[in-house]
Amino acid sequence: QAGNRINIAIDGPAGAGKSTIARMVAGQLNYIYIDTGAMYRAVTLAAQRAKVASSDEAALEQLLKKIQITLLPGDEGQLVWMNDEDVTGAIRKHEVTEQVSYYAAQRVVREVLSQWQRELAATKGVVMDGRDIGTAVLPSAELKIFLTASVSERASRRFKQLKPHEQMDLETLEKSIATRDELDKQRDISPLVQAEDAILLDSTGKSIDEVVQEVVNLGRCKMAGE
Ligand code: DC
Repeated sequence: QAGNRINIAIDGPAGAGKSTIARMVAGQLNYIYIDTGAMYRAVTLAAQRAKVASSDEAALEQLLKKIQITLLPGDEGQLVWMNDEDVTGAIRKHEVTEQVSYYAAQRVVREVLSQWQRELAATKGVVMDGRDIGTAVLPSAELKIFLTASVSERASRRFKQLKPHEQMDLETLEKSIATRDELDKQRDISPLVQAEDAILLDSTGKSIDEVVQEVVNLGRCKMAGE
């Protein structure tokens, strides 16, 4: 089996279901799941705490030297540790979500995180989700998926996942998702864009299991060398 392990890149806009799908695909194939968005979120949280602005490249570079991010499998998804702290909950807070696209647009942040991500994928057998995995991080990934869904479907899915303390109305949520899409698409470095050789999968109206099965089947074909 080790000989035909592949890397799977899943990119797409916020709320398309990438992390759920990627985690389940990894589970079925016995692969490692890597949520790169969580890494950008952790850096954003560290910067906010240290009061480092997204425009301050020099300070960001210093900050990046001081943090180590670890992704661990947990019962309800991936656990994210930053140095000696479990930041799984903290990186999903509204304040981080609103700011992460600004930090993720900085060259120094992208360079350092992309390097970490490549190291994690070096042994193959990885399902990595993000915005630029197929285009910039792992351009030679054997299977690339561009997963999308309509803005209103993405907003209503997120809406259902909100915890009581995160309440927000659907319209605000839809606006916040659309804003983040635009920022991610328009940035100069590795913008969100479908790789030429990526397979477009629109999950609007499809169940999670359906999409997972499609990706697993595509993965198995690639593993078999088809
Ligand atoms: O997938 P997410 O919502 O957790 O990602 C958070 C932000 O991180 C997203 O708005 C854009 C950025 N990001 C990125 O620029 N590149 C990646 N590979 C993953 C995420």
